[in-house]
Amino acid sequence: MKLTNICHTYDGQPILRGIDLQVDPGECIGIIGPSGSGKSTLLQILGLLKRPDVGLIELEGRELLAASEEERRLLRLNEIGFVFQQAHLVPYLTVREQLELVQAESESKQDPLHLLDVLGLSHRLNQLPKHLSGGERQRVAVARALINRPQLLLADEPTASLDFENGRRVMELLVAEARNHGRRVLVITHDERMLDVCDRVLLLQDGQLQPSPRH
Ligand SMILES: Nc1ncnc2c1ncn2[C@@H]1O[C@H](COP(=O)(O)OP(=O)(O)O)[C@@H](O)[C@H]1O
Ligand SMILES: [Mg+2]
Repeated sequence: MKLTNICHTYDGQPILRGIDLQVDPGECIGIIGPSGSGKSTLLQILGLLKRPDVGLIELEGRELLAASEEERRLLRLNEIGFVFQQAHLVPYLTVREQLELVQAESESKQDPLHLLDVLGLSHRLNQLPKHLSGGERQRVAVARALINRPQLLLADEPTASLDFENGRRVMELLVAEARNHGRRVLVITHDERMLDVCDRVLLLQDGQLQPSPRH
């Protein structure tokens, strides 16, 4: 995946000032930066949830920002997995149904029961979100993002509501998608303890992305 000159302004304020980035298959990249520096904005742009003012996003030989609305919808469903800062589960669906809802039709690439087992959720399959803890909800959201084995996995502070052990499990699962299946993973995190599993850590500051001097 290649980003070229991504620029974004909000309310007259420049937030992203020409982001260039190449992410190779198999790479897991950590993104850090001060609050308000535009990390979530950048991830939403990569997830085709927000359009930048200018820039190009190339994935698997296609330029995504030029795609039609319908193509973008299919890309979001099949090629991009997104873990939001909040879990955003459907309140009236059980854990198992949350995954079935987004499962790609013919070839589900991951077994949902296995995935939920790895995330320690086997005993929660038939529960509604209101009966889950915050950490369990977040792990369901991670499973939902992984279920179609997307080319691009984007996670916005996926471990924020998790204890260390569960946070670590989530990070290792994301990294495994990159390493074992040649996917590309971008993770925003404030949690220093989660960054050592990433291949690279980038700092977003003053609208620019650069290698973090501390990692
Ligand atoms: N929809 C929005 N409403 C209010 N502020 C926004 C919105 N979108 C972007 N911003 C502003 O853009 C800047 C970057 O926000 P964000 O991407 O959420 O930063 P981060 O995730 O690094 O904390 C902030 O200054 C924020 O106030
Ligand atoms: Mg944010």
